[in-house]
Amino acid sequence: MPREGRANPGGLRPTKGVTLLPGEAARALDAADPSAPPDFAGRVALVTGAARGIGRASAVRLHRGGAAVACVDRDAPMLDGLVHQIAAEGGQALALVCDVARDAEVAAAITRSVQAFGRLDVVHANAGIQRYGTALDVTEAQWDEVMDCNVKSVFLTARHSLPYMVAAGRGAIVVTASAQAFATQRNVVHYSTSKAALLGLTRALAVDHAEQGVRVNAVCPGSVDTPLLRAAAERFSGDRPDGPQALLTAWGRSHPMGRLCTPEEVAEVVAFLLSDRAAFITGAAVPVDGGLVAQLGADLPDSHAGTGADPKRGAHPRL
Ligand SMILES: NC(=O)c1ccc[n+]([C@@H]2O[C@H](COP(=O)([O-])OP(=O)(O)OC[C@H]3O[C@@H](n4cnc5c(N)ncnc54)[C@H](O)[C@@H]3O)[C@@H](O)[C@H]2O)c1
Repeated sequence: MPREGRANPGGLRPTKGVTLLPGEAARALDAADPSAPPDFAGRVALVTGAARGIGRASAVRLHRGGAAVACVDRDAPMLDGLVHQIAAEGGQALALVCDVARDAEVAAAITRSVQAFGRLDVVHANAGIQRYGTALDVTEAQWDEVMDCNVKSVFLTARHSLPYMVAAGRGAIVVTASAQAFATQRNVVHYSTSKAALLGLTRALAVDHAEQGVRVNAVCPGSVDTPLLRAAAERFSGDRPDGPQALLTAWGRSHPMGRLCTPEEVAEVVAFLLSDRAAFITGAAVPVDGGLVAQLGADLPDSHAGTGADPKRGAHPRL
């Protein structure tokens, strides 16, 4: 069984060797709670989009909860860094380089994971991309890219994972949707549609496989401080003298809790939903958004009075 994290799954593109962890990745590993409850002792987890951001925090959290973790991503160097870090903590992890939008690659990755670890108990179907545009400018190819990476990928991950869980009579899947499954910003027609579709897919999977012992739920994060969000801040900060950091701060302030979410805060909810502590929860869409979708955009005059909130903080600064 691979422990050193340099596994090279048959049929998949080879990993390209190990690089030093960039600062963001190292921070994610360090920030996760090393005293996580051992909910996953003896279990095997698979996480897609594990190389960075939410997926990385989830892989680390599941490892620290006792799982052996199959880490799936298309970024080989970042995956290798993660797997080496988990191995350095005494855990078991396997790097599987794979485009989750491609059926044959997903099938090969999951087969390789089961060959390596002997079983598959829990899956975090998390990989996704953010793109921008309206129906007037998004091309058919751009629409398909988002739907393939964000929706078809989850279908494929479930399709190839479920047989192992159904055979075992137990299992759990968590899908990373978004607050944008419930309410949208402008200029994200394909992204917003993809995230809403994931809630339909989550419900369908949950209902189809409940009697077989498999639970399927979604998490719906607000703005999470990941490379994806930082890339968005770079893109939209434009000529602002205060730069992307000010935009990130403004996005955080648009949440009633007044700040961005951390990847580890999402990972903790994912771990709960994947664990036996959530044994009677299936088909649910769980916001992890600091109150974002609970809030209407238009505040009443003097509505901050008595709430302790900063009156200068707009409910929804224009992003
Ligand atoms: N960051 C946020 O504010 C936020 C909010 C709500 C939902 N989400 C969702 O959370 C998920 C993770 O987002 P993140 O912010 O951690 O993003 P990220 O870009 O920081 O990390 C995503 C990872 O997924 C991988 N990936 C993307 N497409 C892939 C593919 N086709 N095959 C294999 N790997 C692929 C990337 O290589 C990357 O390592 C996404 O589904 C995203 O839509 C993010």
